[in-house]
Amino acid sequence: MDLRQLKKEAENRISLIKNTSDLEKWRIKYLGRKSVLSLFFNSLSKLPLIEKRKQGQEANAIRQLFSSLYKKKREGLETNFSFSSDFIDITQPGEKIHQGHLHPLTLILRDITDSFQKMGFSIIEGPEIETEYYNFDALNIPASHPARDMWDTLWIKSKAKNQKSKMLLRTHTSPMQVRYMETNQPPFRIIVPGKCFRYEATDASHEIQFHQIEGLMVGENISLSNFKAIIEEVVKDIFKQQVSVRFRPNYFPFVSPGVEVDIKLKQKTRNKKQDTNEWLEIMGAGMVHPDLFKRVGYATNRWQGFAFGLGVERIAMIKYHIDDIRLFFSSDIRFLEQF
Ligand code: DAH
Repeated sequence: MDLRQLKKEAENRISLIKNTSDLEKWRIKYLGRKSVLSLFFNSLSKLPLIEKRKQGQEANAIRQLFSSLYKKKREGLETNFSFSSDFIDITQPGEKIHQGHLHPLTLILRDITDSFQKMGFSIIEGPEIETEYYNFDALNIPASHPARDMWDTLWIKSKAKNQKSKMLLRTHTSPMQVRYMETNQPPFRIIVPGKCFRYEATDASHEIQFHQIEGLMVGENISLSNFKAIIEEVVKDIFKQQVSVRFRPNYFPFVSPGVEVDIKLKQKTRNKKQDTNEWLEIMGAGMVHPDLFKRVGYATNRWQGFAFGLGVERIAMIKYHIDDIRLFFSSDIRFLEQF
């Protein structure tokens, strides 16, 4: 038998094979028990020893060659099959999913309300559309009072003749003080987070819309020292560092005495520009004016309380080093993506 002829033929045929069933036929034909090669091996026994050895070696080499041709071809066909169009390569890196996230003001609002909740404050909400009475008069700010200039107001058109029902967009969260006290008895401690609106020109530190968190704690023997202790804890919790707190006298018609609260961060922040020795104003506060207690029928000789109104944007600007309040509502994705 011409082994070289056999080898050539087998090599030729296998190179044309395109699927596994043809390959299996090839295997049976060239490597099977009844293959030409096997029959050849069987016939060797009849040959003289020297011839047997020579031809046996040759045939063995060819069988090894066929085996390796077969193995390679099978691997080739299998991998080709695997990479067909519906193949999913699970080792490929995944595509990045674009995830949304919370607005910086939502983050800071949650931080602040969480801190007050830890100190036992309940969260109350109030209407954004308010009456003139609760926004001003009930807080000792009558129409003629010069303090009304501090709250440039967006009025809502209405036919109301009664002053109690003249409507506006609340200029601060303070109206909830009287609203809450009208229907609740002390002792209590509440915070009122919410949107406020002012009709004024916008600039880096003024917006037409912003957030405040009002606070009110009424009980027996409540003093400004209690307020200071609570605020010190809360700001430490919000800024995650030691913070100094300072009171400066200020006038608000619904508190007496009234103060402005400043803070000073002790640690260097990542913003090198921000001077750590700077006092930064974060809220107005004071002891609730007895007029308010009288208005809601509380005994002024028994109850005292403190109130405060905290600027949420102000805290966010200090914490995240934002130098323009208008960025919060700019919807600029480059700004928002940083949080
Ligand atoms: N409502 C004030 C404002 O808008 C802030 C404020 C000052 C709130 C003193 C208070 C307070 O509760 O006691 O600017």
